[in-house]
Amino acid sequence: MIDVLEDVKKQAEAELGSVDDEVSLQNLKAKFVGRKGVITEILKGMKDIPDSDRPRMGKLINETKTFVEDLIDNRLNEIRDEKKRRSLYEEKIDVTLPGRGMPVGARHPITQVMEEVTAIFERMGFEVAEGPEVETDYYNFEALNIPKNHPARDMQDTFYVSDEIVLRTHTSPVQIRVMEKRKPPVKVIAPGKVYRCDSDISHTPMFHQIEGLLVDEGVTFGDLKGVLTEFVRLVFGEGVGVRFRPSFFPFTEPSAEVDIACMICGGKGCRVCKNTGWLEILGCGMVDPEVFRSVGYDPDKYSGFAFGMGIERITMLKFGINDIRLFFENDIRFLRQFT
Ligand code: PHE
Repeated sequence: MIDVLEDVKKQAEAELGSVDDEVSLQNLKAKFVGRKGVITEILKGMKDIPDSDRPRMGKLINETKTFVEDLIDNRLNEIRDEKKRRSLYEEKIDVTLPGRGMPVGARHPITQVMEEVTAIFERMGFEVAEGPEVETDYYNFEALNIPKNHPARDMQDTFYVSDEIVLRTHTSPVQIRVMEKRKPPVKVIAPGKVYRCDSDISHTPMFHQIEGLLVDEGVTFGDLKGVLTEFVRLVFGEGVGVRFRPSFFPFTEPSAEVDIACMICGGKGCRVCKNTGWLEILGCGMVDPEVFRSVGYDPDKYSGFAFGMGIERITMLKFGINDIRLFFENDIRFLRQFT
């Protein structure tokens, strides 16, 4: 029996060497020290042992059992340690790596210029007014001295929703809406979206305008020139040439267009300015007496000026952008240049 116990120890040691997971180890434990295991089997042989030898043999069997149990427990600890070590190694985090940056958003260049222009006029004392983008024929045209079937309607390619409803072709209808509600003095600007049935490298069906209107007693064309010249200086910089060129709008008389000296060629003449040396930036004029009559203002008592500018155009000139469609493609490489 002593030999058998020695064999059990050796066999347990040998089998343990090839076990490297917990499940196989539990099986091995059952095989040797479980209720139906090798040692239990040996204990059954005790009845054939003479009484005088029993205490000694019993003690030997228990020692063997403890020996095998310790072997297995040690191996179990080894396996668990190894597993922990491996997971610590595999899941390691390098806390010294630089972090992944959070991309910071920015406002669209059109929005930036809208806000810049709005802020300039607010500092001059203008208030912001707004009106609907879906507008009636009356506010978009008739009240602005553009009667139905008048050739002046051809100046703007209009999206008609119905006979009487249009997508506003300019921000000028806001002039009428403001004057209907208030008595002079009036000093407002109206930024917003406008729509025209037009699309090529310098036109998109939707674009942005900022309208200006100032009405009071004794307002002159000199006031108009002063305000707009200062505006050009603030947006395009000191010393940029400005000229007021006679023009026509049904709702202003006299009317003018404002040009700035071409910043591409410095006024010498190039492709961008079509060899004129000048770039048009806005339309303006003294409010036509017919417009005052349509809102119930006395044209003999009040005078005023109005202006309207395209924001895409101002933004293109300010940043040297040559294709208006870039504003609407939202290519991140383009937009990123304005952060
Ligand atoms: N509404 C005109 C346009 O869109 C611009 C303008 C506004 C001209 C106010 C004169 C006065 O072309």
